[in-house]
Amino acid sequence: MRFSPAFLDELKSRLRVSDIVGRRVKLQKRGREYVGLSPFKSEKTPSFTVNDDKGFYHCFSSGEHGDVISFLMEVEGLSFNEAIEKLAGEAGMELPKPDRFDQAKEEKRKSLYDVVQAAADWFAAQLRSSPAAENARDYLLRRGLDAAAVGAFHLGFAPGERAALKTALIKLGFEEKMLVDAGLVIQPDDGRPSYDRFRNRIIFPITDARGRFIAFGGRALDADAPAKYLNSPETPLFHKGSVLFNYPRARDAARNFAPVIVVEGYMDVIALHQAGFEGAVAPLGTAMTEAQLGLLWRVTAEPVLAFDGDEAGSRAAMRVVDRALPILKPGKSVRFSFLPNGLDPDDFIRERGAAAFRDLLNRSQGLADLLWQKEIIGRRLSTPEQKAALAQQFETAIAQIEDKVVRDYYRFDFKVRLSEFFWRTARRKENAAQPVTAAAGTDELDDLNYERMVLGLLVEYPDLGNAHIETIEPDWFSNDWHAEFCNALHTIYLAGEVADVLDIYEQLPPRFYMLLNQVHGEERGGDAPAARRARGHRLHARFPMVMQRPPHAVIERCFLHFMKGLHIRTLEKEKNQTLMQAGDFLMQPDKQAEAEKLYAHATGLERLLMDERKKYADEEITILYLIEEFSPHSNGRQLSS
Ligand code: UTP
Ligand code: MN
Repeated sequence: MRFSPAFLDELKSRLRVSDIVGRRVKLQKRGREYVGLSPFKSEKTPSFTVNDDKGFYHCFSSGEHGDVISFLMEVEGLSFNEAIEKLAGEAGMELPKPDRFDQAKEEKRKSLYDVVQAAADWFAAQLRSSPAAENARDYLLRRGLDAAAVGAFHLGFAPGERAALKTALIKLGFEEKMLVDAGLVIQPDDGRPSYDRFRNRIIFPITDARGRFIAFGGRALDADAPAKYLNSPETPLFHKGSVLFNYPRARDAARNFAPVIVVEGYMDVIALHQAGFEGAVAPLGTAMTEAQLGLLWRVTAEPVLAFDGDEAGSRAAMRVVDRALPILKPGKSVRFSFLPNGLDPDDFIRERGAAAFRDLLNRSQGLADLLWQKEIIGRRLSTPEQKAALAQQFETAIAQIEDKVVRDYYRFDFKVRLSEFFWRTARRKENAAQPVTAAAGTDELDDLNYERMVLGLLVEYPDLGNAHIETIEPDWFSNDWHAEFCNALHTIYLAGEVADVLDIYEQLPPRFYMLLNQVHGEERGGDAPAARRARGHRLHARFPMVMQRPPHAVIERCFLHFMKGLHIRTLEKEKNQTLMQAGDFLMQPDKQAEAEKLYAHATGLERLLMDERKKYADEEITILYLIEEFSPHSNGRQLSS
């Protein structure tokens, strides 16, 4: 059965959305609206709103939107007719008798979706063949858009006349009121005739998640136009905060493991599409919303957000961090890529090519890394108070995370980062009072010293080697010589129990003598006392605790902790390499299965890493206490080197 618009309007005006919805959803009044927990998604904070004045509900987390009728259809699973019958009963209205003439008229009735679809088709036809669109066609060519992309995105052209679209759509049988409701035509308050919203613009149609056209963006062709881009207003179909440009295609691409990339503009999405990145989407001229993050997480675990590498870009990224933290879920996060000096993705691809962009994606930063970096840069960290302030800053950010599991892991992760960081700054005595720089997270020299300290311990304490050598992999060492040295120690230890330091000095092949001196330190005599060195002096300098002759258990505990540090670093490297390789495979159509396998492997590594980092963090505090307690110049403050 078909119902006349008049009947449906009457029906809706007799019912309050909040009454119908209120039976299913507990609603609370807030201003002119009601809010409650979404019936479409499980959630803890209300993102579902009902507006009686406007006669609709809207769910910001799922993007669902509609009136009393669609509510019954969506939530109670009724058909359209069933929903009308039920509501008519409640509103005390008789169902209209079917009438052949009415029915015929109803067939012609067009929905708002039909209006927008018709407009999209009309705009596209203009771009294809209207003489007035000559400029527009030239413009797109100049910007490097090919016919395939113009077709794939159903791009169009809105001519410069006052009411060309309006005239065309009315001729097709649409009512003027619908054109206004769809945001295509503007009705001035002062009674002058209505006119087209989009004039002399390239038209970018916007679809909902199901691929139906719901709105448009328009780019001015005239450089003097008051706004470079103009979007449809909010309409019953279009809520810009819960829509992403190109979402349906990105979702399909994500199913095939393409990265989902969030960029700022329409042209960026299209340029990426042309370069083979089909997973690109853009918000519509606003900052990312929770609803948009929700859409992204439905299709991918970690969308990559591309930002300008400048000050404004980094501010925009931090706004996303603030938005994302409260709603992070296990496995769901965002990554960040920063583009060099003022290039948007469209410019970047044109100047440097798709491979360079892929590289940029591979080097994207995780959310935790970004949070970390932003806070440590420029910090002075010499006093406990300064350290406490930094720790507190992180705690404030982390406390925003609503998901308990994610929050706990963030706490562990930052605990590790902080203790490593404080330790490192303390060891770098001369720098301790200096503000840290961005590079302070990964100091190659530090890494080398760390590896040499571990090797030095293996020389100094044969019992460590006798007990643990088999659990140590040479490839945990980033330096090739260190790895070789470790290998040589393997050979010595596995040949039989080593009783004394000197056994190692004797059995080590001569090509390692220099390095042995570096990691351990040969005895040096001489007349001048200042020039004399005890055997092991290099190790003593790196790890002064040794000179205090602490119990073997203490040394062993520190040593095992250091080994875990090396192991974690190796796992991190392996994970990153796996991801990079997977990313490369992803771009090759015949390597999809391999890519998938590698992603699974990387996920396994990440899980292992989380466990290992947690254990490491738990142990770290104890180790720092031990080191401090056995430090030769311990004054309770300085971890000297
Ligand atoms: P940009 O000004 O960065 O434009 O706006 P663009 O995408 O690089 O476009 P071209 O390359 O000059 O053609 C980025 C996005 O911000 C929104 C649009 O969604 C645009 O795609 N925007 C921009 C507006 O909504 N209104 C504006 O006036 C400008
Ligand atoms: Mn641009």
